[in-house]
Amino acid sequence: MKNLLSAADLSKSQIVSLLDLAHEMSDVNDREIKKLPILRGKTVVNLFFEDSTRTRISFELAAKRLSADVINFAAKGSSVSKGESLKDTAQTLEAMGADAIVLRHASSGSAYRLAHSGWVDSVVINAGDGSHEHPTQALLDAMTIRESLIENPIGSDLSGKRVLIVGDISHSRVARSNLILLQELGATVATCGPATLVPRSLEPAGGIFYSLDRAISEFEPDVVLMLRIQNERMEASFFPTEREYSRIWGMNVDRLGRLKPEAIVLHPGPMNRGLEIDASSADSERSRILNQVSNGVSIRMAVLFQLLSGEKESA
Ligand code: CP
Repeated sequence: MKNLLSAADLSKSQIVSLLDLAHEMSDVNDREIKKLPILRGKTVVNLFFEDSTRTRISFELAAKRLSADVINFAAKGSSVSKGESLKDTAQTLEAMGADAIVLRHASSGSAYRLAHSGWVDSVVINAGDGSHEHPTQALLDAMTIRESLIENPIGSDLSGKRVLIVGDISHSRVARSNLILLQELGATVATCGPATLVPRSLEPAGGIFYSLDRAISEFEPDVVLMLRIQNERMEASFFPTEREYSRIWGMNVDRLGRLKPEAIVLHPGPMNRGLEIDASSADSERSRILNQVSNGVSIRMAVLFQLLSGEKESA
């Protein structure tokens, strides 16, 4: 594997190996000196055309912990504002010595275009392209589920685990990557949300629910993955009011109490507290939201190591 553009680029055995490697990397993150020399001499460019807190900072930390040099590029304040294209921007950064380009872009398919256009030779990692995919988010979600629910996680897949993805599935790259990756790992996945935001074309093996209460009682999830309402990608009104949305599809203490005793709650962030999840649920003992953030660093260390330390491969 030369690039990581989609969760579908990874076979089940490759996902399990990456999760195992990330588990080892998390030991480094717990040490006093959080550094390994394995990517010394490599340069990672974070090429972000959209805002980010978790993904950008965790890729930066991951690269630095593996001793790579890091360049952070944000479109705001760059020559993109003068009309410079993705091609020219990427080629300019590669001419300065980039070995890997971590790309976040508002256009679905932009990472694939960068990787397969012949514009650059660098490794390309998709850090979120429009509503399409966010493969490292799905990897860190899988790592969080595995470590929360499986006593000896090394080498394990997610067979037998039931994951409910709730909310704005239509606009969510997190949902798309998780549907591919969690099902590849053997989990049973269901989706839930307003009919206007849950595409039937993505119907997973666990089915589609239009009421969170029904999904909790009938699907009996081990994991509830709450999604952010992506107002910035909505060009129409998809539900009557925020209050209505929160009442029917929001996670709250009452619904938390009706989950199985060991069930956990995830959210990729950033959260709209009070809309898709209330503050008590976000901060509850079932919440693994901060574990997701920590695991994001370990997963990105594993991905950078995997893609930058080996022999160059095609595709
Ligand atoms: N989960 C996620 O992609 O968060 P950021 O937008 O902060 O990177």
